[in-house]
Formats: sequence, C-alpha cells, structure tokens
Amino acid sequence: MSHGVAPHLQVTDLVAGYVRGLPVVHGVSIEVDRREIVTLIGPNGAGKSTLLKAIAGLIASEKGRIRLGGRDVTALPAHRVVSSGIGFVPQTGNVFTTLTVHENLKVGAHLVRGSLNERLERAYALFPPLAARRPLRARALSGGERQMLAIARAVMADPTLLMLDEPTAGLAPRVVEEVFRQLRGLAEAGIAVLMVEQNARAALGVSDRGYVLTEGKNRFAGPARALLDDSRVAAAFLGGR
Ligand SMILES: Nc1ncnc2c1ncn2[C@@H]1O[C@H](COP(=O)(O)OP(=O)(O)OP(=O)(O)O)[C@@H](O)[C@H]1O
Ligand SMILES: [Mg+2]
Repeated sequence: MSHGVAPHLQVTDLVAGYVRGLPVVHGVSIEVDRREIVTLIGPNGAGKSTLLKAIAGLIASEKGRIRLGGRDVTALPAHRVVSSGIGFVPQTGNVFTTLTVHENLKVGAHLVRGSLNERLERAYALFPPLAARRPLRARALSGGERQMLAIARAVMADPTLLMLDEPTAGLAPRVVEEVFRQLRGLAEAGIAVLMVEQNARAALGVSDRGYVLTEGKNRFAGPARALLDDSRVAAAFLGGR
C-alpha cells in the first residue's frame, strides 16, 4: 500500500451491472499498487468478474470512480482502455485458437507503438515455453500453455495494471504454481496485478493483499496473510482447495 501517494488503481464506490438500474456491483472500493498482487475472492455470483469487466471498460459503470495512475478512466470506451495501461485476461476466450502463438502475441501489440520485434523477444524471454511453440496454433497448446499465452498477449501491450479472471481454473497444481510464479515476476517488474481466484488459499499465498466480496459489496480486506489467518474468512471463503 502507498503512503501519501494515491495507489495506482483506485476504484471508489463503484456501481455496475448489465442492466441500468439493476446493478450487481453495489458500491465496491478497491486499490492496487504497482508491484503488488491483489486477489479478489468471494462466492459464486458475488460480482467479482463484473467488477473486472467494469474496470476494463467492457460494461458501463453507473456510479463511482476508477482512477489509474491518477487519471480518471471511469468512462473510457473499451478501445481506449488498453492504451490507458489496463490489460485484461478474461476467464475464457482469451486467445485466438486458430492463430499461432506468434500471431496471438502480435495481435496483443497491435495498439502499441514501438518495435514489435523487441516486444516479441521480450515476451519469449519472459515465457520461454512459448518460444518453442511459436509456430503452433493456440488450440494445440495445453491448458497451462494457453493461459501463459493469454498472459503474454496482454503483456505485449505494456499494461501497468494486469487483471486476470481465474487464471488457474482447471490447471494442474504444478501448473497453478507456475502461473503464480509468472505473475509474481510481472509484479516485481512494476505491474499492478489484480486477479479473481476460486483457488483462494493458493492465490492468497502469492498475494500481498486480498479482498472478499459478497453480494456485490466489500466484505473483508487486508494483507493476504491476515485473511488466511482470519477464522471468519477461512470458515466461509477458503473452503475447498
Ligand atoms: N452477461 C451477463 N448478463 C447479465 N447478468 C450477468 C452477466 N454475467 C453475470 N451476470 C450476473 O451478475 C451477477 C454477478 O456475476 P459475476 O459473474 O460477476 O460473479 P462472480 O463473482 O464472478 O461469480 P463466479 O465465482 O461464479 O465467477 C450474477 O448474478 C450473474 O448472474
Ligand atoms: Mg466470475
């Protein structure tokens, strides 16, 4: 958390949903700083994915503010969100299955200026398994490789905030660890990382802080360690794995 300086992402009292007047996010406030991993957990239907979609500009916010790097991005149209520094890896449909690994990465950079080749080489350096699979179509990748490609594709646009919706869903435990290790590396490189996870215990294990959302509202918040140790959080929200 920052002291004195506004956090990189600052969401204040956000109200959002799919039908105007029928919100599913009822005034949520969250903050994420650069170099931090923050995890959102909560029961099915709590509004976690909706919150990410609102921040990504995919659905309109009815009330509240979204600031990124001190700039108001609340009402930016979706096509301007990427160039504002927000990268979003949705839960499904996050790679083009008929395109190759290399083409997917190129598409990820289509909105940014500067040397494409440098970016591609940097992505392959960050995610070495992708380098070996460059000419393969994304549909030929394993689940873990596909998720890695989705993350690398988002990173091609140089986000300062990377949001991921359940990045480890359906992955084997070893691959889950690998994905979390990569996110840790991206945070260390200066990116603010915000993820939604059902794999709550493991996700909080690699996170700096966390938020529990229920029924579209903030329920608990704090350092990840404190949430893991909180018996009220553990009993209701850290079941399963
Ligand atoms: N595209 C949509 N159109 C209309 N309502 C939707 C849409 N997507 C989600 N909802 C509704 O919004 C509410 C919150 O859903 P959301 O997907 O944000 O929850 P979530 O916390 O991500 O849950 P989960 O853990 O199951 O992914 C639910 O009642 C859901 O039915
Ligand atoms: Mg969801």
